[in-house]
Amino acid sequence: MSDLLIATGERRAIFVGGKGGVGKTSVASSLALAHARRGSRVLVVSTDPAHNLGHLWETRVGDDAVTLWEGDEGRVDGVEIDPARTVDAHLSAVAETMTRLLPENLHRAARDHLESARDAPGTHEAAVLERVAETLEAGLDSYDLVVFDTAPSGHTLHLLAMPEQMTGWTEKLLANRDRSERYAVAYGSLGGTKDTSDRDAELRRMLLRRKARFSLMRDSLADPHRTGFVIVTVAEPMPIAESREVASQLAELGVPLIGVVANRLSPADLMPLRRSREDALLEALDLGAPITRIPLIDELIGLPSLERLASALA
Ligand SMILES: Nc1ncnc2c1ncn2[C@@H]1O[C@H](COP(=O)(O)OP(=O)(O)O)[C@@H](O)[C@H]1O
Ligand SMILES: [Mg+2]
Repeated sequence: MSDLLIATGERRAIFVGGKGGVGKTSVASSLALAHARRGSRVLVVSTDPAHNLGHLWETRVGDDAVTLWEGDEGRVDGVEIDPARTVDAHLSAVAETMTRLLPENLHRAARDHLESARDAPGTHEAAVLERVAETLEAGLDSYDLVVFDTAPSGHTLHLLAMPEQMTGWTEKLLANRDRSERYAVAYGSLGGTKDTSDRDAELRRMLLRRKARFSLMRDSLADPHRTGFVIVTVAEPMPIAESREVASQLAELGVPLIGVVANRLSPADLMPLRRSREDALLEALDLGAPITRIPLIDELIGLPSLERLASALA
């Protein structure tokens, strides 16, 4: 077994990151397949807005998990996170509460405010993070391993750095809830319905649940025995430079880097010069984690080629 398979097999959640087009989805998928072949139940979660998980497996994949591969014991399920769905669900829950708590003449202003929140900077990212945390929580319950196929590196690191902020944000929401609950009680004593406070309690539970979810994610990310980051790169100067950058940001965030995959290496027999340049770049690369070398595999799509890549990784 390769270092990469051992290191990922010892953990519960793996984040696969790197520049766009280097092979994150291919590596995440075949890593999942390699573990599933050994009897693990694995969930692959694509968080990249440019999803290509379904394309690679030649199956329709969406916001709910579908089975991509099934063996006697192991299996691979896949999800492509749809942030728009999360934003919609969240905004309609908030809209419902606002409509209940606000007098009729303010409903329109409240709706306008929510509509502008839909496109506000950060809303989309917050929704992705919310789904990542939700999927991680549910995934840890039902799977042996959750593999996140993430968006290009900078974006992912930003998300990884956000749980703290999100927890803070949830706390603020909770504080606001406390206040509006008081209003609701006052309103209730003026003849409002009891139904309102029941639903408020429900909303409060939802917020607490969400807070717990982000705490779990933060704890999970910082736990080197439970979580690891795998950088995928190709052996070219720019992606290698970006990988160094990612590695140092991970170190700052306290997220353990457990492996580097050098993907799509040129065949030494057909392209000796090119390959020796690639080898030289990799020789000089020390990110503090073992490098797994993967050759160029032609026509990487569908199960047979994923099997080949899984063998190369294993
Ligand atoms: N080892 C490989 N050999 C040949 N083609 C590869 C290899 N790994 C990935 N590819 C191809 O490179 C392209 C990008 O891979 P993908 O996994 O989608 O990257 P990312 O998810 O990082 O954007 C795809 O067309 C894929 O088939
Ligand atoms: Mg991809």
